[in-house]
Amino acid sequence: MSPLVLLAVLALAGCRQDMHDQPRFKPLAKSDFYGDLRSARAPVEGAVARGQLHEDSYFYSGKMGDAPGDYLPFAVNEEMLARGRERFNIYCAPCHSQLGDGNGVIVQRGFRRPPSYHTERLRKAPLGYFFDVMTNGFGAMPDYAAQISVRDRWNIVAYIRALQLSQGASAGDVPAGQKVPSSAPVFRGDPGSGATLPEVRPPSDAGKGEEPK
Ligand code: HEC
Repeated sequence: MSPLVLLAVLALAGCRQDMHDQPRFKPLAKSDFYGDLRSARAPVEGAVARGQLHEDSYFYSGKMGDAPGDYLPFAVNEEMLARGRERFNIYCAPCHSQLGDGNGVIVQRGFRRPPSYHTERLRKAPLGYFFDVMTNGFGAMPDYAAQISVRDRWNIVAYIRALQLSQGASAGDVPAGQKVPSSAPVFRGDPGSGATLPEVRPPSDAGKGEEPK
């Protein structure tokens, strides 16, 4: 190696810069590079982070323009309704009760009582309205956007409509050929605390009045 090359190698070794030591700004530090002196730059206008395009705005807001829409953004099936019921019973029933009458356990212990879902006003409320209440909260009620995924919020909306129908349906609402139990189940004795399933008499026994042996 010629002495010149050796000198160059030695000189360049002094220029070594590791990645952990590269030029950078401390968060929110001042910079003279930009006219506004801010080193932290806003995203270029119109930039969208991966997975946040939200192109179907109704699916994410329940609104058409400024007003809530009155349809589900996807066709609902039995599985989604079951999922909606499960999520409802976890996240909403503590206050609204499993029946939706607003008398959940938290309310029984003093929290502000929500209106029943079975009022004329809420029966007629558009579906997107329920989605919006869950997404943004309403008065004393916090929002559930962080806890419940967008799809599950819609599943809950679908279930609430079914719940409303369950408390306000007439025989005329039953589709032809569909069987509906004509009376509530009869329990053997005390239904208990709910910790265990109560024993239900077989339907043939129901209403006969005497205790089965
Ligand atoms: C911590 C208790 C609580 C929980 C949990 C809760 N809510 Fe509420 N909700 C309330 C209260 C209280 C109100 C009434 C708020 C007010 O008027 O200030 C309300 C109001 C509502 C209303 C009626 C809005 C109106 O126009 O009157 C809807 C619809 C609703 N909640 C849906 C839900 C759904 C769906 C869930 C589950 C995702 C849920 N809530 C969970 C307490 C709760």
